[in-house]
Amino acid sequence: MKAIVATRYGSPEVFRLEEIPSPVPADDEILVRVRATTVSAAHSMMRQGRPLVGRLFTGLRRPRQAVPSTEFAGRVEAVGPAVTSFSPGDEVFGETGIRAGCAAEYVCVREGGALSIMPFNLSATAAAAIVDGGSTSLYFLRDKAKLRPGHRVLINGASGSVGTAAVQLARHLGADVTGVCSAANLDLVRALGADDVIDYTAEDFTEGDRRYDIVFDTVGKSSFARCRRILEAGGVYLTTVPSFAIYPQMLLTSRIGDKRAVIAAAGLRRDEEKTQGLIMLKGLLEEKLIIPVVDRTYPLAQIAEAHRYVDTGRKKGSVVLTVEES
Ligand SMILES: NC(=O)c1ccc[n+]([C@@H]2O[C@H](COP(=O)([O-])OP(=O)(O)OC[C@H]3O[C@@H](n4cnc5c(N)ncnc54)[C@H](OP(=O)(O)O)[C@@H]3O)[C@@H](O)[C@H]2O)c1
Repeated sequence: MKAIVATRYGSPEVFRLEEIPSPVPADDEILVRVRATTVSAAHSMMRQGRPLVGRLFTGLRRPRQAVPSTEFAGRVEAVGPAVTSFSPGDEVFGETGIRAGCAAEYVCVREGGALSIMPFNLSATAAAAIVDGGSTSLYFLRDKAKLRPGHRVLINGASGSVGTAAVQLARHLGADVTGVCSAANLDLVRALGADDVIDYTAEDFTEGDRRYDIVFDTVGKSSFARCRRILEAGGVYLTTVPSFAIYPQMLLTSRIGDKRAVIAAAGLRRDEEKTQGLIMLKGLLEEKLIIPVVDRTYPLAQIAEAHRYVDTGRKKGSVVLTVEES
């Protein structure tokens, strides 16, 4: 099969399109014909092997998994003899986590892995696009922040992959949502359902008078120290991006004070939990209560281009790689 391969960390030029053996499903595995995968900010960090601590998961000196990308949407091509819940021909979407392997014509996934039947009304491109942002936002807002109807929620980085999903999910869960983005993305974030928008190039949201029950920084551009004053008593500050300060702050605020700091890693959850999230997203997508935001699509062979674009830090929603039938 055709696959993208990287055997060292580095710039987007590490990727090569190669012919490699197709994976063969084990007894409890599903062979998926990948139609779309993504390039995300997290994939860029995995490509670079940064931060270095991430290499504990991805390989110390070189990538442990040569084929990159962690989300997929496609068709079940074959199943192992012990598989009962999926059949050849099913359209599925999901994620492979640190096993990666999705930037290829085929990937094998355990039946109990993080996957679900695809929303009937989405293309593979749109389905792949929502997996990372949707799962991550659901986990942070519903499970970590315990968002309740009526909560005031601020989403920083509202135009990114996690942010565009977070704005919509927070709205769906009944919050009053403020989205923070640059001027160019204000209309997009409003259209996704934000009640209020703040242009971060013109206004520092940490200096304002408004108070929030939840501040979710999806791009790690703020800090708990700066956001503490805009949190209500009992409020939660969440970030997706690790920093030296956030771990001791999380420990301390879990014991002292009435404002909490939280960092979490959606990718390290159990597969069963991820699957439950995907099933919930499927329902919301089919009812058009949320929509995927696709910025650009590239053919698989142009993965380096896609990474270069993601590296600008300016993408809106998701960047998708399409895998053509050969
Ligand atoms: N912890 C976890 O479980 C987890 C899960 C998923 C992702 N992540 C991490 O979360 C981060 C975000 O991922 P992503 O895919 O959503 O990122 P992304 O889509 O690449 O983010 C790009 C967006 O960020 C906006 N942005 C850039 N600087 C900003 C600023 N100072 N203030 C507000 N918005 C700004 C950009 O808008 P402008 O062009 O308008 O500036 C752009 O639309 C990554 O570091 C990723 O590794 C963590």
